[in-house]
Amino acid sequence: MLAGFLDTSDEWIVTRTGIHTRRLLSGETLRELALKAARAAMDASGLRPQDIDYLICSNVANSYVSPSLGSIILGPLGCCCPTFDMNGACAGLVYALDVADAFLKSKDVKNILVVAAEQPSRFCNWHDRATSVLFGDGASALVVTRGEGFFDFRLTGNTHTDVMYYKRAMEPTPYDCVKEPTTPLVMEGREVFRLAVEASIQDVDTLLERNGMKGSDIDLFLLHQANMRIIECIREHLEQPREKFPTNIQKYGNTSSASIGILIDELSRAGELKDGATLMLSAFGGGFVTGAALLKWSSITY
Ligand code: ACO
Repeated sequence: MLAGFLDTSDEWIVTRTGIHTRRLLSGETLRELALKAARAAMDASGLRPQDIDYLICSNVANSYVSPSLGSIILGPLGCCCPTFDMNGACAGLVYALDVADAFLKSKDVKNILVVAAEQPSRFCNWHDRATSVLFGDGASALVVTRGEGFFDFRLTGNTHTDVMYYKRAMEPTPYDCVKEPTTPLVMEGREVFRLAVEASIQDVDTLLERNGMKGSDIDLFLLHQANMRIIECIREHLEQPREKFPTNIQKYGNTSSASIGILIDELSRAGELKDGATLMLSAFGGGFVTGAALLKWSSITY
């Protein structure tokens, strides 16, 4: 389908990215997708809406700048807790988990619903073959409950605005009469690739070293699903077997911050996430920001 209006081919996309198919919102809205993921996580946790103490949404862009996506889905979920959105780009889920972990330790809260919902199809330039073939829309959600699950996080950030950006429209004012148009996603793919591999390796190595662990101590590495070759570079560096790096980019493409949560959900439903498993999450995104989390998995009702 893409080759029908872009100078590309299925062979190029599969070989360079590992992506075979992806899902894009058409009849459904991002709000509905986020609600579906949030309700599924709440059902799986067995918690009632009144048990949720905080709702954190990870989202790069949706049709509303305000109110937040969290505010938009809060009421339909039957929750009335505080909520806010975070934009940690594709590392947003790891950032949200880090904040949830800190809230659980420092505030009087017990259950935090983390929802990552993304519609990158709406900020891609569909005339640009270098970006539009990579992304898919998706949502995932997790209920994070006070316990002993997280060992450690490593988040990093630095400024590389030029290698990846999406600019939204800005209204003119009496003092600045320039109306800024939207600039759909611009990306220096090769540079993002290099930064992603380098940063993810640093994050994972740092967490392993800081916690006196080796790659072989990790049961599963759940990496942001951006490009199969990026995942393979990180795996080769860690010298760990392929089975420890589950992927689903083949089916969904890059769903930004939703990707790791979708992977967790699929593994959990397939019975491949054992209680007590040691997981390493690692993601990177525009900014450039990165985040990795080392945790012990514990499901409630799956
Ligand atoms: N179809 C056919 N040819 C293409 C396409 C396409 N869709 N896109 C680019 N090309 C061409 C280029 O124009 C170039 O042609 P040239 O050699 O004649 O100049 C050639 O293919 C090679 O281009 P490269 O950019 O060097 O290809 P590369 O192997 O680096 O793959 C890719 C490109 C897939 C974008 C890769 O660099 C990548 O995955 N980078 C990371 C992207 C990423 O992860 N972004 C998101 C990160 S953050 C987040 O998740 C939001």
